[in-house]
Amino acid sequence: MLNYSEACERNKQAILDTLSTYLACSKTILEVGSGSGQHALFLSTHHQHIAWQPSDQEHYLDALKINMEQYAARGVLSPIELNVSQAWPNTLYDGVYTANTLHIMSWEEVKQFFKGAGARINENGYLFVYGPFRYLNTYTSASNATFDQWLKARDPSSGIRDFDAVDSLAQAQGLSLVEDCLMPANNQLLIWKRAN
Ligand SMILES: C[S@@+](CC[C@H](N)C(=O)[O-])C[C@H]1O[C@@H](n2cnc3c(N)ncnc32)[C@H](O)[C@@H]1O
Repeated sequence: MLNYSEACERNKQAILDTLSTYLACSKTILEVGSGSGQHALFLSTHHQHIAWQPSDQEHYLDALKINMEQYAARGVLSPIELNVSQAWPNTLYDGVYTANTLHIMSWEEVKQFFKGAGARINENGYLFVYGPFRYLNTYTSASNATFDQWLKARDPSSGIRDFDAVDSLAQAQGLSLVEDCLMPANNQLLIWKRAN
């Protein structure tokens, strides 16, 4: 597995358990920033009715394609190139999923993510975002505070996002928060829904 992520192996079961009722009623999912594709493989293996569209930026795409071919899972489509600041597929999906990406993107890219995702979610569709968040400018753990410092030292435009700020971006796209689930290792799984 190219770009193998140990964290993905640790968090994938908890993500599946939390999302299963939502995925059961979804037929098409666009994943943004798939990385190695471990979540695409695992979640779609447990929900084989879904056409799961993995994607990533150009420089991650070759490795993602190789992984998806090597570990082919029913329902996983051929990965597509997607940088949130550039062209998005001209398709509507029942859900958009992303994990551990918003703290890697710049704030401008986060805004583009919500704009792009919001425009591609069907009526009654969902936006699923997994990762660490702050609440009222407060970290949920000391380890997240340390992680944020590390992120910013590496790239000042990155960093753990404030929940209220991303929720405002979601609301601007007509998405309403339905769940904010506390996950292992001080992460959250945020779930928004597009109302009728
Ligand atoms: C820490 S990795 C997470 C990968 C995978 N989702 C996971 O949970 O292991 C961050 C991912 O965000 C993606 N990413 C960062 N900036 C992006 C952008 N502007 N557009 C699309 N993806 C982006 C990276 O290419 C990378 O795949």
